Amino acid sequence: MEPLVALCKRRGIVFPGSEIYGGLAGTWDWGPVGALLKKNYKDLWWKDAVQLRDDIVGLDAAIMMNPKAWEASGHTTGFVDPLIECKICHQRFRPDKPDEVKGHEATHKGKTVEWTEPQKFNLLVKAYLGIIEGKQSEIFLRGEITNGVHVNFKNVLDTTRVQIPFGIAQMGKAFRNEITPGNFVFRSREFEQLEVQFYIKPEEAEGKKWFEYWKKDRMKWFLSLGMKRENLRFRDHEDDEKAHYAKAATDIEYNSPWGWQEMMGIHNRGDWDLSRHQQFSGKNLTYRDPETGETYIPWDIETSSGLERPLLFILLDAYRKDEKREWLQLDPKLAPYKVAVFPLVSNKPALVAKAEEIYHNLRKSMMVSWDDRGNIGKRYAAQDEVGTPFCITIDYTTLEDQTVTVRERDSMEQKRVLVSDLETFILKVI
Ligand code: GAP
Repeated sequence: MEPLVALCKRRGIVFPGSEIYGGLAGTWDWGPVGALLKKNYKDLWWKDAVQLRDDIVGLDAAIMMNPKAWEASGHTTGFVDPLIECKICHQRFRPDKPDEVKGHEATHKGKTVEWTEPQKFNLLVKAYLGIIEGKQSEIFLRGEITNGVHVNFKNVLDTTRVQIPFGIAQMGKAFRNEITPGNFVFRSREFEQLEVQFYIKPEEAEGKKWFEYWKKDRMKWFLSLGMKRENLRFRDHEDDEKAHYAKAATDIEYNSPWGWQEMMGIHNRGDWDLSRHQQFSGKNLTYRDPETGETYIPWDIETSSGLERPLLFILLDAYRKDEKREWLQLDPKLAPYKVAVFPLVSNKPALVAKAEEIYHNLRKSMMVSWDDRGNIGKRYAAQDEVGTPFCITIDYTTLEDQTVTVRERDSMEQKRVLVSDLETFILKVI
């Protein structure tokens, strides 16, 4: 983890939030390279979840919601973590994370640490709306992005041609008053989520079928991004750890440097959300089957992942180091820059002009990095560390035969490619 965190800072992937003011615990700012990585992940996810499917539509709901929605969803009462407090230093920890508790005890070197009885703390982040001091109304920043989807169930039915089974996909920010943010971006207080709420007939057999379908489908998704199968596994939740809304829950976990950790969750939420929103809003949220005329409140099979957490695991999975270099062996689809363009030297106008021409042409169809400083070895090293699959060098031979040197990130092999073939060659790989 340490070399990866250092690389992320050094190369503009992730910075600590509000760093110049000493930071704000549990917040992170994604730099110029990190922002590209996030965008690539989200674009690929949207293509997979919405663009290529007939049965899922997208949505972008507000972060701020009428507080009644959070009462209905059970978050004002059910979204709680039990905490114990160290009687020596008054730091609080989750008793369901014994490794963190033991780790803390070790910091008190040899002293016997006593703990308070567990108490419950709500994770919703409060905010205040209204301009008159004292008359503001308390609202919550969304603790999960899910409810913006459920409250629009009828709107989506009325404005599209979807029929059950169908899904609504959404991505966006969520906020949690995490008690112990940590492990870099793994547990943050502000993060993004990417979810599909998939509505089905309210039947046990349907529930099982679609739950299994989505488990397989999400594993396939992470494998399609180049993650190693041996670092991924399913873990079913025990009854006493399931969220208040879940009938069944399975996590896809990643084999992280600090043990197997949740990367995403697949939940059978039953009719919890729609029936609660129907009850609290007084609006009819049932579905009428157009063929049978049957009316019911559908069940929801949810797939929910963060953005920063899977990206951290993708980066850990892609991190490589040998005696010569460090590099990110990212799937080219995800790589922030697809290619870097270098004029061999920066003080030969003919070389620079040719390199600029290639750079301007390629960047019409992909993200391209430009570097004309220092020796070529250092330029390769900088690109390797952000996972750029190809580097192109324009040299004197280019001016004679219209070929450039293309150097591949993982094998470090070099070959000469015609300038006119470059775009097709790279697009084919990415
Ligand atoms: N709508 C269901 C839901 O929110 P969750 O298991 O609480 O379920 C889903 O969260 C995913 O969101 C997690 O698997 C993780 O990837 C991400 N996530 C949750 N809390 C997070 C946090 N504090 N920091 C970063 N990512 C988080």
